[in-house]
Amino acid sequence: MKRSLIAVAAFIGIVGLNVAFAADEKMHHESHHHDMSMMDTRTSLELSAEMKQHQLSNMREHVEAIRSIIGFMSENKFEDASKVAHTRLGLTPEMQKMCSMFNNEKFTALGIAFHKSGDDLGDALHTKDVNASLHALDKTMQYCVECHATFRQ
Ligand code: HEC
Repeated sequence: MKRSLIAVAAFIGIVGLNVAFAADEKMHHESHHHDMSMMDTRTSLELSAEMKQHQLSNMREHVEAIRSIIGFMSENKFEDASKVAHTRLGLTPEMQKMCSMFNNEKFTALGIAFHKSGDDLGDALHTKDVNASLHALDKTMQYCVECHATFRQ
């Protein structure tokens, strides 16, 4: 009787250990899964240190341009907003050159399309039509989102 109790206790002990082990495995698996979702799967542009700084400062100017456009719109200054869109987001020769400096055709095409949408935004703002302007702003910002989801430095 005592012997069989010991056997049962040992069995429970082994099952318990197995359960603990399985739980540990699961956690391990989950944290591994977590690592996978944390991985940056975007295409790297493999930029030099100098190009990285240049691109980031350019990007910070893009956000500032968007903020400035929204600010002017809120004050009904559509002409000023239009000017910012054309000169700072539009396809100026400088932006054309900047976008062509990358060794990635898809990135260049996306960059050029983005700057063209900046000019469309400038045209929409010029009409002083709020809805048309917001629609154009939405389109331009879709490019920000799409490119950031696809590429990294
Ligand atoms: C054609 C591609 C492309 C477009 C379009 C684009 N960006 Fe970027 N942007 C990048 C890349 C690449 C980075 C670097 C991201 C990384 O390596 O994680 C970046 C980084 C940034 C950063 C980080 C700057 C810093 O100093 O850390 C900001 C802010 C930013 N972009 C704003 C914008 C805004 C706002 C727009 C649209 C108005 C925009 N970008 C459109 C490619 C793009």
